[in-house]
Amino acid sequence: MDYQKIIEEVKETICREPAYSKPADYIPELSKIDPYKFGVHLQLIDGKSFSKGDFNEHFSIQSISKVFSLSLAYSILGEKIWDRVDVEPSGDPFNSLVQLEYEKGIPRNPLINAGALVISDMLISELENPLEDFLAFVRKISGDTLINFDLKVAQSEWEHSWRNAALTNLMKSFGNIQNNVDEVLNFYFHQCALSMSCKQLAKAFLLFARRGLAPDLERILSISQSKRINAVMQTCGFYDEAGEFSFRVGLPGKSGVGGGIAAVLPGEYSIAVWSPRLNKNGNSCLGMKFLELFTTKTEYSVF
Ligand code: DON
Repeated sequence: MDYQKIIEEVKETICREPAYSKPADYIPELSKIDPYKFGVHLQLIDGKSFSKGDFNEHFSIQSISKVFSLSLAYSILGEKIWDRVDVEPSGDPFNSLVQLEYEKGIPRNPLINAGALVISDMLISELENPLEDFLAFVRKISGDTLINFDLKVAQSEWEHSWRNAALTNLMKSFGNIQNNVDEVLNFYFHQCALSMSCKQLAKAFLLFARRGLAPDLERILSISQSKRINAVMQTCGFYDEAGEFSFRVGLPGKSGVGGGIAAVLPGEYSIAVWSPRLNKNGNSCLGMKFLELFTTKTEYSVF
């Protein structure tokens, strides 16, 4: 398969799409990005890679980080994590409060904000130095020691934290948050403020394409855990657009309001694409379009 040719053809096609929509601005620091940035990096499990555009440029990975915190918590606590967070698609926006009240503080899944906040709470309880240990985990699975938090983005999110604070307080009232609410928010805002390139993200997501193996071949997740994380990404990775992403792209993946999307074809490859302009559900317009055309042209997906 000539992956480089396909990447170039697909990029040419999507660049002709009308310039609708704009980057996220509810976290003001994110709105400063050039909306016309575009990068993609494809990483095969045999070590080959193909890229195009701004694939080496760092951007705010936002909710894509929820897959990393879930993986770390799952690797430490095993199946116990599912006592406090479910695995059902929410069909609601990422920061919705409505289901939490009906479902007594148990989030629908670990990839919506409420679920990621509960996972943050678990990690704070389990890790000696939560932020440092989390960062070390992401560096390890990416095989890249240069990854870091963007502290300006974390601060910007703190200043507009009303909804995430409401979610955390509501869950605390139901007994599903054990640590101090501000501590949980602080961890969560930093994890979302991880700054990574498409290349680094694709390398990190190779963990799920290689069924739980890190670049140094250390087993981080069991094969079953890796299967389950891919299943949760497939059904919940795009919030109220998870069905649409599955329908159009046919890969497990995760989006972030920084405009990134990372996806995997288990046993074959991981891919990360970045374009900051978002659709109304908070997912990258061109990122989704790129992946739709990519899996259509390669005739290769999990289905
Ligand atoms: O909590 C928030 O609102 C952001 N830190 C993350 C949201 C996000 O990336 C949703 N994804 N599309």
